[in-house]
Amino acid sequence: MKALTVRPGRAGSLEVTDVPEPGPELGEILVAGLALGVCGTDREIVAAEHGAAAVGRDRLVLGHESLGRVLEAPEGSGWTVGDLVVGVVRRPDPVPCGACARGRSDMCRNGRYTERGIQGVDGFGSERWRIEPDYAIRVDDSLGMLGVLVEPTSVVAKAWEQVELVGGRSWFEPESALVTGAGPVGLLAALLGVQRGLDVHVLDRVTDGPKPELVRALGATYHAEPVTEVMTALRPEIVLEATGASSVVVDVLSGTARYGVTCLLGVSPIGRPVRVDAGGVNREFVLENDALIGSVNANQEHFRTAATALADADRDWLDRLITRHVPFDRATEALEPEDGGIKTVIDL
Ligand code: BGC
Repeated sequence: MKALTVRPGRAGSLEVTDVPEPGPELGEILVAGLALGVCGTDREIVAAEHGAAAVGRDRLVLGHESLGRVLEAPEGSGWTVGDLVVGVVRRPDPVPCGACARGRSDMCRNGRYTERGIQGVDGFGSERWRIEPDYAIRVDDSLGMLGVLVEPTSVVAKAWEQVELVGGRSWFEPESALVTGAGPVGLLAALLGVQRGLDVHVLDRVTDGPKPELVRALGATYHAEPVTEVMTALRPEIVLEATGASSVVVDVLSGTARYGVTCLLGVSPIGRPVRVDAGGVNREFVLENDALIGSVNANQEHFRTAATALADADRDWLDRLITRHVPFDRATEALEPEDGGIKTVIDL
């Protein structure tokens, strides 16, 4: 069968190749791949900055933003042929650490977890793939191809959960939130903020293209002013930082409301130092009981929350997030960044 594979650690090795059918060790459910979302992590793997193939293998089947239809499922698994399914990305470390032992591999402590299509196990960028019933997430049929947005939404569902858990350490009834970055993660974070009834603001650099209008269509407010200006004007109670840009990360550390919760979601490049008034940042955090957290990955519960949030969302709006469809044969082109676009999806 056809698969999008890469040799981790070797830039320029991405190819659509012929690979054997997925082995039963990958799960009892056999799935026909429908669509594969592409994100910054995939681009990092292709650039040889991240990722690992399975032990004893050179190449990795790329792809962790999955969507497929069940082809075969064991009796009693609750799955039937034709069901729409998305695969959870991370698997527990083999030790396992305390978090993985308790079903929270998204919070793994020793870093020895594996991730489908990223770290040590094949992903979902193939004509057929397999998944274990415990890691298979049901997608409402009415979502159709939009189910490919479940994985990135699961990442923001976890971020929102973390913000609420941290806020929950004392009285917390937030009314406003700022999301920095209007890429797929930022826009989906804004969607979940609006679904919570918050006054949501989204900041990005661009003033044209689909982003400003997508934010407005949610009933949120779009900003393209400098970050510090927006922070001063809004004093947001919650910040979800989804650009990963060092200067933005630093700028959102100051100027939240008292008891502000800032959650960092973007994975930044390293080695780009920026100047920070550490005393000023520290002073504000201490005197205002502010909190700063990082959040990565998502567990089964977050995937289910994400599938529900998408099922409740406006289909047209979700459809507009997918700005480019690439056919499987030309899948390597999907990894090239799309100027002004939002989410690229490979049609499997
Ligand atoms: C994925 C996460 C993963 C992270 C780091 C992200 O793109 O959505 O599931 O944990 O990359 O590998």
